[in-house]
Amino acid sequence: MQNKIKRRTFLRSTASAGVGALLTGKLSRQDAVAASVGKPVVIASANGLEATARAMELLQQGKDALDAVIAGVSLVEADPKDNSVGYGGLPNEEGVVELDASVMHGPTGRGGCVAALRNILHPSQVARRVMERTDHVLLVGEGALRFARAHGFKEQELLTEESRAAWLKWKENLSPQDDWLPPHDRDSKGIGKVWEAFRRHYGTINCNALDAQGNLSGCTTTSGLAFKIPGRVGDSPILGAGLYVDNDVGAAGSTGRGEANLLACSSVLVVEFMRQGKSPEEACLLACRRIVNQTKMKRLLDDDGRPNFDVRFYALNKRGEFGSASIWSGGRFAVNTGEAQSRLVDSAYLFKRAEK
Ligand code: GLY
Repeated sequence: MQNKIKRRTFLRSTASAGVGALLTGKLSRQDAVAASVGKPVVIASANGLEATARAMELLQQGKDALDAVIAGVSLVEADPKDNSVGYGGLPNEEGVVELDASVMHGPTGRGGCVAALRNILHPSQVARRVMERTDHVLLVGEGALRFARAHGFKEQELLTEESRAAWLKWKENLSPQDDWLPPHDRDSKGIGKVWEAFRRHYGTINCNALDAQGNLSGCTTTSGLAFKIPGRVGDSPILGAGLYVDNDVGAAGSTGRGEANLLACSSVLVVEFMRQGKSPEEACLLACRRIVNQTKMKRLLDDDGRPNFDVRFYALNKRGEFGSASIWSGGRFAVNTGEAQSRLVDSAYLFKRAEK
């Protein structure tokens, strides 16, 4: 194993990080990381508690990290209650669910991705099929759907009643100058002006694992930005942006505003920072800082010149050390280092959100 990350460097960097990171649970974050070294580990975005627990079951059976992360995220893709991924994901502006996913397999250095895929429950599994059964890396739209059909994936409606109702509400309140009206009565005023209720939504799951053989893999899967322009592709299916794995160094992925992450190619950046000796958490913070420095457009900045959006990173290195960071405070990530139940750990951050 090519191990360029020194334990001493890691301990020094985590001890000095101290950036608003508290553990939710019994162990301190450093203890949790130390306990994981040399054993299978799986981390994910905060919606990955069940996914990481399922992935850990497979890792403990000696399964490959890619089998484990795909089995884990498949639970979330099938969950109608998660409106950021798979079935029940919030649709595009025409009310159609379009899914993006990527996988990357450390030991073989391969990856596969699909983007703007309609009617298929498990885009992560189709992404894997692209990796294993084509000489391509990324398939999109109609081509991705035809490929999925050719491999026997069944088509189904992915819009749930709840996500359809959310879309209709968004559409009816989009503007007072079109003809779609929300429910109202004789005394209603200001129809179509409830913007705050429709903050754009960028949910996703990223899941990365280190298996018992010491190999890394990762997967990111999403329904992308709610109410997007049809055909919009975020960072999740783009290797280097929403996911990156180097089996000698580490795995990293992201959630949040994909447009910012596409411009910074941050997941490959996180892995490169780890290659230079940064801890996973430090590497994630540096990627957040890069996005802050790259954001110049005033419409994307608050009154203090800070991004008015969030991006979050999750990183796991070859030694089993892990971390996460976001631009704004309040983020958490899911971790499993061999327990029956996964736990949520607070992410480090650059800026503290104002108390409400
Ligand atoms: N990060 C998910 C997206 O922007 O689509």
